[in-house]
Amino acid sequence: MLRTHTCGELKMAHQGLDVKLSGWVQRSRDMGGLTFIDLRDRYGITQLVFNMEVNGTLCMEARKLGREFVISVNGKVAERSNKNPKMPTGDVEILVDNFTVLNISKTPPFTIEDNTDGGEELRMKYRYLDLRRNANKKNLELRHKMAIETRNYLSSLHFMEIETPYLIKSTPEGARDFVVPSRMNPGQFYALPQSPQTFKQLLMVAGFDRYFQIVHCFRDEDLRADRQPEFTQIDCEMAFVTQEDILNTFEGLAKHLFMSVLKMKMDEFPRMSYAQAMDLYGSDKPDIRFGMTFTEINELVKGKNFKVFDEAELVVGINAAGCSEYSRKQLDELTDFVKRPQVGASGLVYIRHGADGSVKSSVDKFYSQDDLAAILEKFGSKPGDLVLLLAGKREKTQTALGTLRLEMGKRMNLTTPGDFKPLWVIDFPLLEWDDETRRFYAKHHPFTSPAPEDIPLLDTDPGQVRANAYDLVINGVEIGGGSIRIHNKELQKKMFTVLGFSDEEAADQFGFLMNAFEYGAPPHGGVAFGFDRWCTIFGGGESIRDFMAFPKNNSGRDVMIDSPSAIKFEQLKELNLKIGL
Ligand code: AMO
Repeated sequence: MLRTHTCGELKMAHQGLDVKLSGWVQRSRDMGGLTFIDLRDRYGITQLVFNMEVNGTLCMEARKLGREFVISVNGKVAERSNKNPKMPTGDVEILVDNFTVLNISKTPPFTIEDNTDGGEELRMKYRYLDLRRNANKKNLELRHKMAIETRNYLSSLHFMEIETPYLIKSTPEGARDFVVPSRMNPGQFYALPQSPQTFKQLLMVAGFDRYFQIVHCFRDEDLRADRQPEFTQIDCEMAFVTQEDILNTFEGLAKHLFMSVLKMKMDEFPRMSYAQAMDLYGSDKPDIRFGMTFTEINELVKGKNFKVFDEAELVVGINAAGCSEYSRKQLDELTDFVKRPQVGASGLVYIRHGADGSVKSSVDKFYSQDDLAAILEKFGSKPGDLVLLLAGKREKTQTALGTLRLEMGKRMNLTTPGDFKPLWVIDFPLLEWDDETRRFYAKHHPFTSPAPEDIPLLDTDPGQVRANAYDLVINGVEIGGGSIRIHNKELQKKMFTVLGFSDEEAADQFGFLMNAFEYGAPPHGGVAFGFDRWCTIFGGGESIRDFMAFPKNNSGRDVMIDSPSAIKFEQLKELNLKIGL
């Protein structure tokens, strides 16, 4: 071994010991007769000392060591005269007897320190250097711990980790597939799995009963802070269970992760129906760390000649406590905020509830003081508060107000770092109507079972059918989702029909699953958690990229290996691919 100890473990108890350490030169300082070097490895930093008077030649050699040189040193552990209580090894230093340069290094393109001078793009290009930094190292350590604890917990409950293939079949549902041409089958393509959904269901048919896998998934969709084209799921499935069993089992996993990783004991997770989440928070992934829930006021505002409210399907608002003193400029900013295309509201109405009890609104022309007082009362507003109202089509307005609520939460500092508020959202609609393509889409995926009591509605009013589906949400982030599955061939066929598949299309794309249902498929259900998202939330991060070793940038590129890239003509030919149409 090129070391007896790591750079993170030496303490006063080791004083006088001869040790060998290996690592990277973090920085060096020449102080007259002494040269200090901070030696870094994965475990920490240890100070090395070279004394000009004791060994001048060695000291001169040490002064030539550049940043990030890899060295191995022999020396004795000594008490420091100038201790550093901020470092775990800060009580000691190594009086170096000799050292070997294991490798030299070019000057790194950015400083490998907690506060680096390197921009995002540069750090991504040299990701292996960026990963030497503490913050990234900590994030990957957390990720490792999460994975180990997940495996331990699920394994203790008899879940088996089983791998499923990465080269599968392309299907039109869900996001866009990444496809891989098959050399041996000219003109045909594999698809990379968006999730192992159908395979885990087949494992239930095969009798495995409790399956999980920490697995890569691939989706060719637009990227955001919480989305990568290649990401990891904790994918799970169970047979012979109801929705209640699944929620309890995986609430157990979540509580175990909270306890083992964050040392937090969590209470029972609340449950909220999709309808409630939309009505109160304007989101199917409500952030319940703060209140400011919605109040609908249709019946108080109609018929007063204010066209916007008269024509609206929904007039709804929030009460921002203590914000009545918002300036004109701040209100204009909020109006611009809700009018951005991403939010999509047509305007913002406010009512100031002055600290002196006065009431002023942007619609004073249409509403008397009594009208406004009645609205404020409905909101439970107190002097000093500000009521913000949006109006329009029901769901669109709820979603826009949901975004405004989050923005106000931020402006009003309503969340505290380290506070976690998980919940289950249940009773999702089974289907979603798309005006553009004029057809229903599965809200979750086509294998989700309708709530049994709603099955007759599939023929009469499919939009009203609720699903046996659920999501785990933490602090406004969708961490995972799942459902009880259809395990009956006829019901699965019916579902495909509702989704606009012809019998042939359904058989062509999902025949293997429907056939399997003819050989004794047990009732089953499951869930998949976004592992990167979960790590990010636990680590208090902003972007899932920071919790992945080698992520892609916002354009889906890996700038370190420069991928995607063109391939040689010979390769294209071998794959029977023609470029250009
Ligand atoms: P779903 O599509 O909801 O369900 O995905 C499950 C969870 O995976 C995470 N996730 C992502 N994370 C990072 N980047 C992405 N592009 C990305 N897309 C999704 C989210 C999400 O909640 N097979 C079903 C699960 C089931 O029914 O059991 C599925 O994949 O956290």
